Amino acid sequence: MYVNIAVLKETRAHERRVAMTPSVIPKLTKLGGRLHMQTGAGAAIQLADAAFAGAVFIEDRLALVAGADVVLAVQPPALEVVDAMPEGAILISFIYADREPALVKRLLERKITCFAMERAPRITRAQAMDALSSQSALAGYYAVQLGSTHLARILPKMTTAAGAIGPAKVLVMGLGVAGLEAMATAHRLGAVVEGYDVRPETQEQALSLGATFVETGVDARGKGGYARELTAEEKAKVDAVLTAHIQAADLIITTAAIPGRASPKLISHAQVAGMKSGAVIVDLSAEGGGNCEDTRPGETALVGQVTIVAPLNVPSLLGKDASELYAKNQFNLLALMLKDNVVTIDWSDEVLAKTALTHAGKLTQPDPKPAAKAA
Ligand SMILES: NC(=O)c1ccc[n+]([C@@H]2O[C@H](COP(=O)([O-])OP(=O)(O)OC[C@H]3O[C@@H](n4cnc5c(N)ncnc54)[C@H](O)[C@@H]3O)[C@@H](O)[C@H]2O)c1
Repeated sequence: MYVNIAVLKETRAHERRVAMTPSVIPKLTKLGGRLHMQTGAGAAIQLADAAFAGAVFIEDRLALVAGADVVLAVQPPALEVVDAMPEGAILISFIYADREPALVKRLLERKITCFAMERAPRITRAQAMDALSSQSALAGYYAVQLGSTHLARILPKMTTAAGAIGPAKVLVMGLGVAGLEAMATAHRLGAVVEGYDVRPETQEQALSLGATFVETGVDARGKGGYARELTAEEKAKVDAVLTAHIQAADLIITTAAIPGRASPKLISHAQVAGMKSGAVIVDLSAEGGGNCEDTRPGETALVGQVTIVAPLNVPSLLGKDASELYAKNQFNLLALMLKDNVVTIDWSDEVLAKTALTHAGKLTQPDPKPAAKAA
């Protein structure tokens, strides 16, 4: 007996990741998985079908999923894919249910057991399955790389025979997983780094990464470790403190997000107008509308003398590493269910119960973390 696992080729625009990488195949096989993949699934990251040793390739995605016990994907699949899945089969992918009402309806109708990767609880035991974190860490690293290529200056201090150049100032706003990784990367590259977040516990994390912390005196801790929205009065207080730091920075990386809401605006038109000429903002929150009033999601724009870079789906730009980590996150989740060559779901397991979105034609318990940002 074996568990039939199908991996889809991603079809959404600009999505380069794949939900399986060659290093994960032997682990799945050992647990009783038999792998089928859609032809060309790894092509966008230069992985030919032959690189996936042990997988059987099928051209037609509907034929691929028709015999599957488990379907793996990165982005929410097309409705026709769900229609072609056997009733009661398992789907594991990012879903963001708030944005996909038609898909959720179809998952319920088809009685698909769907695990939505963005719902994995932020608890220690679930860290190995936490795809939001693995993808955000890569995005945070990449934001520094991207920002530095738009700067007409280097990040570290450099002393030459002709004279010395001082280090660049980098301000990171929003110190979740992406922000902390951006701070660590900028520090490693020799910049002078400052961090800012509305959650006061991030101060210690910033200091431990060699950065300083911008204190505004506003505590915006919300439910479940996430930030809450600030009141108008709190926003004004924060703006007053932040303006000086924004206007002294060479590179600003913004990552602020509030689950279920549009990205909070942390940098106003007026603050951009007062920034140093040649400064760069990399806005990692472009998917949710951006953290800067001048952000144009998906574009790189010159606003006065400031370049604002606002890429969409940043993890996909690092498709190889992002796929590797995502595939491992999915494998770690699947490994909780694969026992003795069959799928057994232990619903008393908090990680499975909270990650599940639909099962047996019903929505699972209320969403612990409403959808906010793109995969
Ligand atoms: N396994 C675990 O224990 C685990 C794993 C990952 C993350 N976490 C926690 O989950 C939480 C969310 O992490 P994330 O990376 O998904 O964050 P996120 O992407 O939801 O948000 C990024 C950051 O933006 C900040 N932010 C929101 N509004 C802001 C504003 N107006 N001004 C400045 N900053 C603002 C948030 O506080 C957060 O730090 C954090 O508390 C993180 O430590 C826990």
